[in-house]
Amino acid sequence: MTAPSVGVRAPFGFLDAGHPADTLVGRLLGALPERIADLPQGRVRVVSELRGGLRDGRWAPDRFYCSLQARDAATGTFDAWTAHWSAGAADATWSRVPDDPKLPALATALAGSATGAGPVEVLRYVPLRRFTYRQHGRVVKVKRRSRLEDSWRRARAVEAAAQWDRRVRVPELLGVDPGSASYTQADVPGAELADLAHGDQLAPMLAEAGAVHAAFHALDATGVPDGPAPAAVRATTERSAAWAAWLLPDLAGVLARAVARLAAVAPGPVDARDVVTCHGDLVPSHLLGGPGEWTVIDHDLAHRGDRYRDLAMFVAGLAFDVPALADGVSADPTHARAVEAYLGGYEEVLGRRLDRDRLARHLLAAHLHHAALLATKDRVHPAAVGATASRLEAALDAVGGRR
Ligand SMILES: Nc1ncnc2c1ncn2[C@@H]1O[C@H](COP(=O)(O)OP(=O)(O)OP(=O)(O)O)[C@@H](O)[C@H]1O
Ligand SMILES: [Mg+2]
Repeated sequence: MTAPSVGVRAPFGFLDAGHPADTLVGRLLGALPERIADLPQGRVRVVSELRGGLRDGRWAPDRFYCSLQARDAATGTFDAWTAHWSAGAADATWSRVPDDPKLPALATALAGSATGAGPVEVLRYVPLRRFTYRQHGRVVKVKRRSRLEDSWRRARAVEAAAQWDRRVRVPELLGVDPGSASYTQADVPGAELADLAHGDQLAPMLAEAGAVHAAFHALDATGVPDGPAPAAVRATTERSAAWAAWLLPDLAGVLARAVARLAAVAPGPVDARDVVTCHGDLVPSHLLGGPGEWTVIDHDLAHRGDRYRDLAMFVAGLAFDVPALADGVSADPTHARAVEAYLGGYEEVLGRRLDRDRLARHLLAAHLHHAALLATKDRVHPAAVGATASRLEAALDAVGGRR
C-alpha cells in the first residue's frame, strides 16, 4: 500500500503492488491517517499481523490486525488504535484501548487500576492476546480468559521449582484474578540482558544467558505440562513458511528448500536426558537484572520438552531481540561469536558438550520459524530479508543441505 502521510512506515509495505494481500491491506487501512492523527504526537509503534490459509487450493488472508501504539511524551499516557479483520468481514473494525474484542476484561483491569494505585505504565500490548502493564511496584498481565488459567498454572509450577534451585530466579507471583482476566507478579528491577549485550559486553552477557538457560532446563518443575508433539510443531512451521512464501516471494526459494530439507533431516526421537523444563519463549529480553543476577520472566509457555528446540529458538531469535545483533547493525562474525558464547555458557553449566548435529537440525527449524514470521508480522526491511535468507542458507549448510 502507499505510505501514510505521518511518520509511520506503511504496514506490509513490502507487498508488491497488485498482490492480493496488498490490495486487501490497503482497503482495510484506508482510515490509517485519521487514526494516527488521533493519537498523541510522537513515535507511533506499529504492531501488525497477517495470517492466512489455503482455500480451494489457493492462499488467501484470513486474519489481520494492525495496531498503532503511541505514548504521550508529556504524560506518559498510552493510547492505541487497532484495526482488526477476519475473512468474511467486508471491512476492518477499529478499536481503541481499553477496548479489544478478545480482551473484554482489559477495561475492567484498567478501570480497577484507575482507583487509586497510581499511574499505569504499559509494557506490552499484543492485540487480541495480552496486555502487560506496571503499576505501583507490580506487573499485571491481562490475558484472554481462555488462556489465563493455563498461563498461571505454568508460571506457578516454574516458581515452585525455582524455590529449590538458587541458580534460577523468577518474579514472585502475587495472584490471579479471573474477574479482570489477569495475573500479577512483582516488578523486577534492572535492565534487560538484550540491552546490555553490546560491544565488548556482547559475548560475556550471552554466556550468562546460556548459563541461566541451562539452569532453567535443570529445574524440577513437575507441574508444567508436556509441550506440543514434534510432528505438530513441524506441520505448523511448514504451513507458516508456505504462507510467508506467498506473501514474500523473495524468500520463497530458500523457504521451500528449508521445508524440504527439514522433512529429510527432522531430529529423531529425543533422548530422555534431554527432556527438560523448557521456557518456551526464552529471549535475552526475558532476562532482567544485571550481570550475575538475572531474573527469568514470562513463563506462559513453559513446558516439558526437548532442550535442543528451546536452545535453537533462543539462537534463531537473537537478531530480532538483541538491538546490537539486529539485521543491518551487525553481521557475522559478531553474530556467530554471540551464539558461540551463549552455547559455551550453556555447556559449562550442563557439564557436557551439546550434540551439535542435533542442534543444527533444530536450528534449521527455528530459523525457518523466524523467517516465516518476518512476513507474517511485518518485520521486513531491506537488511532483514537478505540477512534472514543468509541465516537460513547457513542453517541449511549446517545440516548438509544442497543449495
Ligand atoms: N516481572 C516483571 N518485572 C519487570 N518487568 C517486566 C516483568 N514482566 C514483564 N516485564 C516487562 O514487560 C515486557 C512484556 O512482558 P512479557 O514478556 O511477560 O509480556 P508478553 O506479552 O509475553 O510480551 P512478548 O510478546 O514481548 O514476550 C517484558 O519484556 C519486560 O520488559
Ligand atoms: Mg514475553
